Amino acid sequence: MDYAARDLLRAAGVGRPDWAVILGTGLGGFADALEGAISIPYEAIPGFPQSGVSGHAGRLVVGRLGKARVVALQGRAHFYEHGDAAIMRTPIETLAALGTGALILTNAAGGLRPDLAPGSVALVTDHINFSGRNPLIGETGDARFVPMVNAYDPALGARFRAAAARLDLALPDGVYMWFSGPSFETPAEVRMAHLLGADLVGMSTVPEVILARRYGLRCAALSLVTNFGAGLFDGAPSHDETRRVAAAGSANLIALLSETLREPLSESLA
Ligand code: HPA
Repeated sequence: MDYAARDLLRAAGVGRPDWAVILGTGLGGFADALEGAISIPYEAIPGFPQSGVSGHAGRLVVGRLGKARVVALQGRAHFYEHGDAAIMRTPIETLAALGTGALILTNAAGGLRPDLAPGSVALVTDHINFSGRNPLIGETGDARFVPMVNAYDPALGARFRAAAARLDLALPDGVYMWFSGPSFETPAEVRMAHLLGADLVGMSTVPEVILARRYGLRCAALSLVTNFGAGLFDGAPSHDETRRVAAAGSANLIALLSETLREPLSESLA
């Protein structure tokens, strides 16, 4: 890889993080809770893509949370902004090169089950890549043949479940289906998604998890449900609604992240 981004971050004092977190729409507030934080705009980091989506700040924040060192990416670039499924390759490869133990991904998503109502938080346990795109297309060598069994790390999932229980927060599981966006799904697509085994629909996360597994990172993903899927309610999903509900409902997800990530990932974690 080109180590310019890693070297710049090391020079800025970003040591080996215990955790890395990608903060989706409306979830940037998590980074404000980090102690002794320094923040670096993406435009200052070689190879980090800008996100033009409202609700995504576009900076890396590093700081402490309890006993853990955390790097948070406040905002992500999406496939639909660039037409490049590997748009997040440099940030993710850089997080791996810094030696982070795990990558936690967050997103806003549409819910396809009654218990995945707007405002709920769900633990993603698997995904369906419905976009037909893969960030590893074009790579050569054998590292591209990435196994995706347990891509969403069961032991990390158990940590989030235990933290949710301590907070008395419901944390249903869900399978996340990636649609490219930026248009929302049709009602027929949402019915299909549910028939095929999806519980959540969204426009991010999946290419990032594929890249993260490619670079050997353990992953967990959390969805903040901002709406029922298209056709499952009167009206239509919208970006405005996504932003509004994400802002209003982000407190639970941020509390869950804070409760889970304050302890570093220990070697004893199987
Ligand atoms: N579909 C896709 N992405 C989303 C949705 C949705 O219903 N809600 C928030 N992000």
